[in-house]
Amino acid sequence: MSADKVHPTWSLADIPYAAIEKEKITGNMDWFYLLAGASFVEALSDLYTRNLVDYYQGNADATEWLRREWEREEVQHGHALRQYVLTVWPDFDWERAYQGFISAYLPYCRTDLLGPTHALEMASRCVVETGTASFYTMIQAASPEPVLRLLAARIRADEVHHYKYFYRFFLLYQAREKNSRWRIGRELWKRVAEVDQEDSYLALKNAFEVKNPGQRFSPEDFTAFRRRMGHWIDRHYPFDMAMKMLLKPIALPVMLQKAALPLLTRGARRAILH
Ligand SMILES: [Fe+2]
Ligand SMILES: [Fe+2]
Repeated sequence: MSADKVHPTWSLADIPYAAIEKEKITGNMDWFYLLAGASFVEALSDLYTRNLVDYYQGNADATEWLRREWEREEVQHGHALRQYVLTVWPDFDWERAYQGFISAYLPYCRTDLLGPTHALEMASRCVVETGTASFYTMIQAASPEPVLRLLAARIRADEVHHYKYFYRFFLLYQAREKNSRWRIGRELWKRVAEVDQEDSYLALKNAFEVKNPGQRFSPEDFTAFRRRMGHWIDRHYPFDMAMKMLLKPIALPVMLQKAALPLLTRGARRAILH
């Protein structure tokens, strides 16, 4: 299957880590937690790939792409972020925190949580890629440091590219399954409600506890962190873009989409900022 062929590939060698202006970011621990947490979640993508490849057994187009491109790019996001974190905060024991994250998170990551149908799982993957594309758009806009802006732009382009692939696979399965808008909408909503629960909490917790030996990361710390993030989200989160990507699999008639968009955007803003 051919997707947008112009999508540029890149590697860690393209990121000018030596040019990072450390003094612009090193003192802000929120950036540390955010980037360390993101590096864990991305680095764990090889596990999701196995789950997805199992689930889409028999669809060589999908499984080839997942293994060859998607997994490689997601894991590279993890490694690129790890290198950024370790350049700015070199005393951080990344490996130890990552191992802690993996053992805490593994019980939540199971193949039988995928589905319930092939089309609906592809729609769910679109939600996840919408989330990451929006997240890195926000990072790019909010970053006080130029190399991080550049890295976020690279990752963001990959996430948008992934979305396009998952969306195309969704359309192929949907042509067979013919799920109603209502059903797709319900699945998407379920997935939105799940996003950034367990994994971001556990990622932050493990980054925090390794960075601050002897201290415990509590749910209250998480709430306080989320509250501080609220200011960035309010200023930099691309709500319009996220909503358009999110609604695409439902294929609402244009008029309805125009009417629903501002309402949903307000709802999403409230949900994220609550
Ligand atoms: Fe990613
Ligand atoms: Fe992605």
